[in-house]
Amino acid sequence: MSATTRLTWCLVSAFVVESLIFGISVLPAVLFWDWHMGWNVQPAWLRVVVLSMAFIPAYLIFTIALMTLSALSMRVLGWRTPKNAELPIRELSWPLLDWVRYMISIQLVKIFAGSLFRSTPVWTFYLRLNGAKLGRRVFVNSLGVTDHNLLDLGDDVVIGGDAHLSGHTVEHGVVKTAGVKLGRGVTVGVGSVVGIGVTAGDTCQIGALSLVPKGAVLDSGGTYVGIPVQKR
Ligand SMILES: CC(C)(COP(=O)(O)OP(=O)(O)OC[C@H]1O[C@@H](n2cnc3c(N)ncnc32)[C@H](O)[C@@H]1OP(=O)(O)O)[C@@H](O)C(=O)NCCC(=O)NCCS
Repeated sequence: MSATTRLTWCLVSAFVVESLIFGISVLPAVLFWDWHMGWNVQPAWLRVVVLSMAFIPAYLIFTIALMTLSALSMRVLGWRTPKNAELPIRELSWPLLDWVRYMISIQLVKIFAGSLFRSTPVWTFYLRLNGAKLGRRVFVNSLGVTDHNLLDLGDDVVIGGDAHLSGHTVEHGVVKTAGVKLGRGVTVGVGSVVGIGVTAGDTCQIGALSLVPKGAVLDSGGTYVGIPVQKR
């Protein structure tokens, strides 16, 4: 099969799967809305108010269905980021295209649900269902966290706002992947970048606006700040 055919199949299958996921996720919200439409509210202006009030709960129902269905679909289809891989973009290999489809699903969930739920237990629930290995009381306040199936975060880990943490990078036209493992009680400061293949020991603190280079191993209990990080 040629690279063009593979790419076409990847995009068409992603489009079909995402259309199904969105269609089914919207359904309970539409039923909820329809139920309100059936209410015999008088006068007419009050009916408009009631329908307007139904918008936010309907949207919440849609987003929760979307997060759940999207994550379950990725599990069933096996669209994941391959671990410890080097995938030249020009080859458009199947593992690369699986990664692309996984990223598309994550991106769509981020757009429709991420801003509402990031930093809440609902977002943690989604990340876990989508493949991340997360301990208890993990809070992820950033939408810059991807490749969920390559993340292993211990209890009480906090990822600060706008931090970037993922299991992939692109260098010289090659997508490179590796897991990220953060021990219990690790904090990643706001706006920081954690490279692929990083391991941080328990209770390690990574400062705000800092860069942890790929493959770095940070000691338990250490405080690391700067670009690249240095131990304080
Ligand atoms: C790294 C951090 C944990 C250190 O806190 P701390 O142990 O109380 O240490 P201090 O604030 O006394 O700082 C110690 C030194 O590191 C420096 N430093 C602290 N944070 C830094 C950062 N992000 N980048 C560069 N230098 C930093 C301080 O200037 C100080 O330098 P000095 O010894 O030369 O004066 C804290 O500064 C930080 O960045 N926390 C991030 C919190 C965060 O974003 N949480 C996310 C959820 S809200």
